[in-house]
Amino acid sequence: MLDQQKTIVKATLPALKVHGEEITRYFYQEMLGAHPELRSMFNASDQADGTQAKRLAGAILAYAGNIDRLDLLGTAVNQIARSHVRVHVQADQYPIVGKYLLIAIKSVLGEAATPEVLEAWGAAYGQLAEIMISIEKGMYAEAAAVAAD
Ligand code: HEM
Repeated sequence: MLDQQKTIVKATLPALKVHGEEITRYFYQEMLGAHPELRSMFNASDQADGTQAKRLAGAILAYAGNIDRLDLLGTAVNQIARSHVRVHVQADQYPIVGKYLLIAIKSVLGEAATPEVLEAWGAAYGQLAEIMISIEKGMYAEAAAVAAD
């Protein structure tokens, strides 16, 4: 990720904090509308009462705030990865989530969502996705090794 993109992510963080839950709520609605096959993975009551939206918004914003100090994310990222492994999240589902997250950011930020802003957030999401996919890959391999024992 370029330094300039990190600067953009940090500069747009306050606006996204204001709209954090709105972004994730819109994101779920659009993503699950286009990909109904993912619907059964998500706990229906958590979605209905906004719990899931708050968790995802919280995770993304915490990550963005620490974009220069990713080592601070350790435990949080491991916990999220554990939740993901429990519901069998797959690496190839990350681009789907990324696509709808950007669509949601674009919709909520309106004119403030310039191509540079969207590109910076795309790069930030891609970086977090890479970290999570790699941790989850390790967890799946560990589970497979235990199962083969
Ligand atoms: C970088 C991208 C992502 C972030 C930051 C993220 C964040 C989170 C967080 C914070 C939680 C709650 C964890 C907990 O309470 O322990 C969660 C749960 C979950 N995530 Fe993700 N996630 C990401 C990508 C994905 C992808 C690609 C999928 C696949 C479609 C996915 C599906 C789920 C599901 C099914 C749950 C559990 C929901 C439930 O129990 O209702 N996530 N995620």
